[in-house]
Amino acid sequence: MSDTRKEMAVDTSELTRQLEYMHHIRQLNDEYTMKTGNKKKYYSLAMGCQMNAHDSEKLEGMLDEMGYVKTDVETEADFVIYNTCCVRENAEQKVYGKLGWLKHYKKDKPDTVIALCGCMMQQDTVLKTLREKYRHVDIVFGTFNLYKLPELMKTRMESGETVYDIWQEHEEIVEDLPSIRHFPYKASVNIMFGCNNFCSYCIVPYVRGRERSRTPEDILAEVKKLAADGVKEIMLLGQNVNSYGKSLDEPVSFAKLLRLLNEIEGIERIRFMTSHPKDLSDELIEAMKDCHKICKHLHLPVQAGSSEILRRMNRHYTKESYLETVEKVKEAMPEITLSTDIIVGFPGETEEDFQETLDVIRKVGYSTAYTFIYSKRTGTPAATMENQVSEDVIKDRFDRLLNVLNPIIHELNEKMVGKVVMVLAEETSKNNEAVLTGRADNNALVHFEGNKDLIGQLVPVRIIENKTFYLIAERV
Ligand code: 5AD
Ligand code: SF4
Repeated sequence: MSDTRKEMAVDTSELTRQLEYMHHIRQLNDEYTMKTGNKKKYYSLAMGCQMNAHDSEKLEGMLDEMGYVKTDVETEADFVIYNTCCVRENAEQKVYGKLGWLKHYKKDKPDTVIALCGCMMQQDTVLKTLREKYRHVDIVFGTFNLYKLPELMKTRMESGETVYDIWQEHEEIVEDLPSIRHFPYKASVNIMFGCNNFCSYCIVPYVRGRERSRTPEDILAEVKKLAADGVKEIMLLGQNVNSYGKSLDEPVSFAKLLRLLNEIEGIERIRFMTSHPKDLSDELIEAMKDCHKICKHLHLPVQAGSSEILRRMNRHYTKESYLETVEKVKEAMPEITLSTDIIVGFPGETEEDFQETLDVIRKVGYSTAYTFIYSKRTGTPAATMENQVSEDVIKDRFDRLLNVLNPIIHELNEKMVGKVVMVLAEETSKNNEAVLTGRADNNALVHFEGNKDLIGQLVPVRIIENKTFYLIAERV
């Protein structure tokens, strides 16, 4: 078995090396197809955040290059890959559940190769559990060496043993990996990796390492290529986009990057996430206001309303300073919508603290909120804090939170009824082929009747009905 490794420098020839492995595996797969008439199939599952979804596009791009075809039916797969998440405990339980199922699957189909990667794999306790209880897993790697998939597959084929390859940290960024985009008209673009913030409840800095920004040149080149490919909307991804560029040899601000991207012909919409409230600059607000392609929607996770809880969360802002930032943003762009993340039941959260969270929700008026029950993550400072809140109390607060939140969302959406907005038509509705779904500039989810040919286009529609979590519209 190969073992856990420390930092390693990767030069530009790394991509060439991996392309050679891909080519080698492709030849083997072509031979298999000639012999059997079948193509090998892969099943790929991305759990958790958009960062993982985007990483999986790269994994799928490499598998495609190696001659595998994608299947959405797991029981057809010759190669199974889970890109895991560990932000909350239930995401980890899901992986173990699926691995239990795969053990039986592999009894019937022993040639199936099972690969695990992503955040969960960066934890020693997880590796120990896999080594002890889930020995049917074939390839295990982490968040820093995703691009090594072809090499690890080859090692597995040759050794016949489980391959573990987990790095602790990584400075370099490997550019230009093959990638399969899930949508032709919109794409995610990483602008930075990792996080330096160490919010006391969060495992991300431990599993994704320190902040590293891509250069503006690399980002611009990628976005220009996407535009040439027909992409209209880009989503810039980073754990804390507001601190983009600070660590570059020639520092560049996120606002400056946005202004450069706004100039790219063919790109019509720019979105980004996530913004940390402590780093939201006036310069960014100005850039958002000035650049017409930047969508007027801001995801600004508050996490909690009580300044004391925020202090213990290590968030570096108070309730008051957060609300001031929101006011500034709204003043500059009255049409903007805001969304947020909220954690209920952080250790020591009292009823008064919880009321502060409700107060922020009422004052800001979020159009969407991702609400989470606090999940204890071993290794984070919050895991050993006193006064962990009981399950019953958390459940009750969570329900009350939604009771406050949902009418506010409804009320905000009501203001959109009667308005004409541009919607990027994304796909047909799951329940009705004649209905298209898409997002307005302000991120509102809109359903309207229309032909499939409109998918990928910006379509003007009038909002006619408010369904709280989505809007119904008609074409104009
Ligand atoms: N428990 C619950 N929610 C968490 N998040 C991060 N860590 C935890 C945790 N331990 C939430 C935060 C973050 C979002 C991506 O996940 O709200 O913004
Ligand atoms: Fe986690 Fe905080 Fe970093 Fe977000 S900013 S990834 S919540 S540590």
